[in-house]
Amino acid sequence: MTTAQSHTPQGCKIPVGILGVGHFAPPEIVTNQDLAKFVDTTDEWILSRTGIKARRRAASHQATSDLAYEAAVQALHNAGVEPRDLDLIIVATMTPDCPMPSTSCLVQHRLGATRAGGFDLNIACSGFVYALITGSQFVASGTYRRVLVVGADVMTRFMNWQDRTTCVLFGDGAGAVVLGPVAPGYGLLGVHLGINGAGGTNLTINAGGSRLPSWSDNIQRQDYYLQMVGPEVFRFAVQVMGEAALKALHSANLTPEQVTLFIPHQANARIIEAARKRLGLPLDRVFSNVEHYGNTSCGSVPLALSEACQQDRIHDDDLVVLVGFGGGLSWGSAAIRWGGLLRES
Ligand code: ACO
Repeated sequence: MTTAQSHTPQGCKIPVGILGVGHFAPPEIVTNQDLAKFVDTTDEWILSRTGIKARRRAASHQATSDLAYEAAVQALHNAGVEPRDLDLIIVATMTPDCPMPSTSCLVQHRLGATRAGGFDLNIACSGFVYALITGSQFVASGTYRRVLVVGADVMTRFMNWQDRTTCVLFGDGAGAVVLGPVAPGYGLLGVHLGINGAGGTNLTINAGGSRLPSWSDNIQRQDYYLQMVGPEVFRFAVQVMGEAALKALHSANLTPEQVTLFIPHQANARIIEAARKRLGLPLDRVFSNVEHYGNTSCGSVPLALSEACQQDRIHDDDLVVLVGFGGGLSWGSAAIRWGGLLRES
């Protein structure tokens, strides 16, 4: 965590909070037993090493923007915000529909968000937290009032279904939030971002970019797939998850005892448990849905946040901490005081 900087947006004029959340996961469920039919694995191994029981898989006609759109519609509805009132759309994804146009443009067009600007943000599984913090700066500065932030990925399309060390871990999903001004003392209180490129080779998709273009002659099939040195990423994740949460909290003069709900990246139940212990949180202050969805990359944190809201696990004045980590290597965290909605926010 040597490259990271912490800061708090407290000095900003306008407090920024989440006005509404939504999520979408494609309906097809792939269980561990389903995987064991064609790859050398067992339900027992996957469950005991990762906590995952099932994941969702997008239909062949579905791409990332389709999932992102559904999550966005729900978030806008829950926020009571019309698409035409959006000023900005940020889509965090590492699996865009295509290199160009940006997924944000595809979502903008389908929503009819005619006034909005937008862009995609790619920092692997940390993407949603990075996009949340990026979007909040536009509201905090007074530049914009309504920002849609979506995290979405179709990871199953980048799996080598013969590689049991990766294909059992990932699934498809999306989550979204609408950001806007909130009352003083609410919203994003403390944030923290970090990257460490020295560990980047532990988690890669090598083909499809300018170094190894899709049409390259020397491309190998495996270059299109996600490749991971699992134990290295595990060690990194166990260390960074708790540390990142603490940095966001400390930057706002908050402590783990004040946290009402910790919503970490849903990669592995053992990583989440290690972070819980590091923060000294009781079980009921941690939210996890990894058993149902696996690792949905950029969809993971907002999908968990949205389900936590649906399950009535978050109330006004609660202190919610989000942490993402992933390829890069990268990580990001945010401490959010829930509520404080203004009449017209
Ligand atoms: N089924 C059965 N056996 C398996 C499977 C499987 N699906 N996968 C691996 N094994 C075997 C290995 O081959 C190995 O066998 P060996 O001892 O005979 O060589 C044995 O199980 C142990 O393998 P490890 O990799 O050491 O297992 P580990 O306990 O480390 O668990 C895991 C592997 C689950 C991948 C873990 O390392 C992990 O969770 N890593 C972090 C993953 C993660 O968080 N990724 C985030 C990505 S975020 C993003 O940006 C994309």
